[in-house]
Amino acid sequence: MLNVGKIEEGFVLDHIQAGKSLTLYYNLGLDKKDCTVAMIMNAKSGKMGKKDILKVECDIDDLNMDILAVVDHNITVNVVKDGEIVEKKELVLPKEIHNVFKCKNPRCITSIEQGLPHIFVLADEKKEVYRCKYCEEKYSQRVKTVVQ
Ligand code: CTP
Ligand code: ZN
Repeated sequence: MLNVGKIEEGFVLDHIQAGKSLTLYYNLGLDKKDCTVAMIMNAKSGKMGKKDILKVECDIDDLNMDILAVVDHNITVNVVKDGEIVEKKELVLPKEIHNVFKCKNPRCITSIEQGLPHIFVLADEKKEVYRCKYCEEKYSQRVKTVVQ
């Protein structure tokens, strides 16, 4: 396997579905932060066949876990401090998610009016369905856009 060095402080996001790490990079806003990031794609995995891994060297408070759970709650979040894993976090689906995903309904008030918060609400926990708080449009993984 391609070898990328260990990180000193930050997160190792493991067991990401193969091919999803680039989307995750933008969803986490890592393109706008001053973190050092290593993206490993198509790594061989016993459990998953193939997987992606994101290594993010940053301040630990600098990452929004809610986003991770919505994108894929099977991701393992390893928290690293002083070069060691200090925690493996469980991801829980947040009840509401603010200003991460945009509603794609062109008639939604958030598409028409500027400056409103973009809010999605967990409508069905079992099916992991989120809906826009304003128009109930379903959040879809495929067409997601990041609020800038
Ligand atoms: N890692 C890292 N920097 C560190 C410590 C760990 O980049 N300072 C990375 C390892 O390279 C590995 C991941 O964090 O990709 C998880 O490490 P570890 O828990 O030791 O591996 P596994 O036991 O394989 O994890 P799991 O049981 O979750 O599959
Ligand atoms: Zn809407």
